[in-house]
Amino acid sequence: MAENIPEHIKKEIEKLVKELNYHCYRYYVLDSPVISDEEYDRLYRHLKELEDEYHYVLPDSPTRRVGAPPLDKFEKVKHTEPMLSLDNAFSYDEVIEFDKRIKRFLGSGEVIEYTVEPKYDGLAIELTYKNGLLSRASTRGDGYEGEDVTQNIKTVKSVPLKIEGVPGIPGEIDVRGEVYMDIEDFERLNREKEQKGEPLFANPRNAAAGSVRQLDPSITASRKLHLACYGVGFVKGIEFKNQWELIKWLEKARFPIPPIVRLVKGIDKVIEAVKEIEEKQRNFPFETDGTVIKVNDFGLQRALGIKTREPRWAIAYKFPAHQGTTNIRQIIPSVGRTGVITPVAMLEPVRIGGVTVSRSTLHNWDEIERKDIKIGDTVVVERAGDVIPHVITVIKEKRTGREKPFPVPEKCPVCGSKVVREEGEVAVRCIGLNCLAQVQEKIKHFASRGAMDIEGLGEKNVELLYSKGLIHNFIDIYKLKKEDLLNLPRFAEKSAQNLIDAIETSKSTTLARFLYALGILHVGEYAAKLLAKNFEKLEDLYKISPEEIMKIPQMGEKTSRSVSDFFNDTENLHTLKTLKSMGLKITNPDFEGEVKGERPLEGLTIVITGTLPKPRNEVEEMIAIYGGHAATSVSKNTDYVVVGDNPGLKLKKAREFEVKTISYDDLLKLIEHRT
Ligand code: IVH
Repeated sequence: MAENIPEHIKKEIEKLVKELNYHCYRYYVLDSPVISDEEYDRLYRHLKELEDEYHYVLPDSPTRRVGAPPLDKFEKVKHTEPMLSLDNAFSYDEVIEFDKRIKRFLGSGEVIEYTVEPKYDGLAIELTYKNGLLSRASTRGDGYEGEDVTQNIKTVKSVPLKIEGVPGIPGEIDVRGEVYMDIEDFERLNREKEQKGEPLFANPRNAAAGSVRQLDPSITASRKLHLACYGVGFVKGIEFKNQWELIKWLEKARFPIPPIVRLVKGIDKVIEAVKEIEEKQRNFPFETDGTVIKVNDFGLQRALGIKTREPRWAIAYKFPAHQGTTNIRQIIPSVGRTGVITPVAMLEPVRIGGVTVSRSTLHNWDEIERKDIKIGDTVVVERAGDVIPHVITVIKEKRTGREKPFPVPEKCPVCGSKVVREEGEVAVRCIGLNCLAQVQEKIKHFASRGAMDIEGLGEKNVELLYSKGLIHNFIDIYKLKKEDLLNLPRFAEKSAQNLIDAIETSKSTTLARFLYALGILHVGEYAAKLLAKNFEKLEDLYKISPEEIMKIPQMGEKTSRSVSDFFNDTENLHTLKTLKSMGLKITNPDFEGEVKGERPLEGLTIVITGTLPKPRNEVEEMIAIYGGHAATSVSKNTDYVVVGDNPGLKLKKAREFEVKTISYDDLLKLIEHRT
């Protein structure tokens, strides 16, 4: 059929394929696109239409990346050159020993040139190109024979379908590299799996391997996989003198290569490069487990040869494993300043990477259930970088039957209030108003400007009064006497009187302010105002049910439940009644008497960047209350980006996607205008 296609159509298809592949490379390899996603999609659709109409699909057409049907099984593939493994070095001494061994073997004292590269923790892949076209992709398998995963690997956008950008395309070349998944994408994938109730991947390497070894290529396509190339196997029609030249060639031929490759002379410089990579890999978005040190010169590599499975010319220096095995003596619930309760494992002290570890966060109860952690268990603990140590896994074989599960506490271990666990959320919280773990934060919020507005009761003074035992709850504020203050270092006659006056003045307030001041979960200024519009008196909220609150159309389920929980807690009601008996006067100018349900932002997706006149969570709450969706990242589905001071990358993204940008004032106008 190709014969009947008009020449200009062929030319156009060829041009589109070339263009699209170039943009794909700019986006996925260089991470620096020069056209918008919409423009790319437009070109892609145009190509697809032409291909469908004329049944003319070039072998490197980007449309070939998708749409292959699922397989029954993978075909076996014999590697022309075996894919070797690497010897490990666990200390710098062993690296120095490696250099000595090489010199001994070569019988020469000459200083050797090495390359140092990150060691990717992914899945090794061989890409076979014939006359520049990708003809097959295979897994490493046992090193001699792997599996044909061509259709899956084609969905990885940074894999070139054709070798371009270099003169003299080799007749055949087996490019080798690692397919991997970024840590963030691995975590996102696991969160999605968790929601669907599917088993989770243990680490990014398993996630990458699981995604490649998939019989259905559409699943592979849905995973965010990357490639980094670091070597070749069989080659015909091109010669490389050394590893450095090879890496530079791969880079030029549009293959993705590691972000750092160092070429150094002598083993001291090798160790410097290893240290540099160890330092920098902390900021890599993917996991590495060490560096690979290779003799640069391919002639020397050949002279050194292979032992049985590992070459003599390379070694993997493994970063020290910050892991240890120990026993969980006890699990204690720890209440944070916001009321979130975190289970913490108290460990039999163990030394990991030079530090004694005796406690480890278990994050939340979902994590406890998922990893099946019990008191008395033997566990593997990891300390990565400077982060808090965490339990990796339970060694089930060591169980004696005497281990005890640790259920979610029914009451807050600090104040005894009710504990709630919201649906769809992993966090477990204490809702007690007077919980000592949270009380300082609660008092600071209570006294703040938009709340009870008690001038002179800012952060510093709350901390001082709390530490002197003068305030433990809201009620204590109204019991304060001038004499109490005069005994304190920060107060003199005048400042003490001013604070007492400010406290007195704050007794007259509005329902909206007071509700906001209570710091009820999910109730910011706007939700508080909404409640005040719909409920005349504070007492109308006592013992309220979530359903009654949900009658207000703008009120979501989460907020309604949280308000209801708050006003059904006996301790909380006692506090409110006491405050009123102490002379608190609450008026309600906002009350409207009837339920109003305007949703001026209905259907709009809005993203915030930079600093706005109001805290971000409040603006997001306002957006939600008026029916909009406050998203965290910009996409082509975003309707508006609200830009504050010092905007971040999201502003750049907004321009890229041609999303409308507005100011905070514009947002307020938008709400007003649409009501
Ligand atoms: S070179 C003989 N370079 O490590 C040369 N391998 O333990 C072996 N790997 O199967 C390959 N990053 O999957 C090389 N920069 C790198 C690497 C690397 C990760 C993996 C590869 C290999 C395994 C050997």
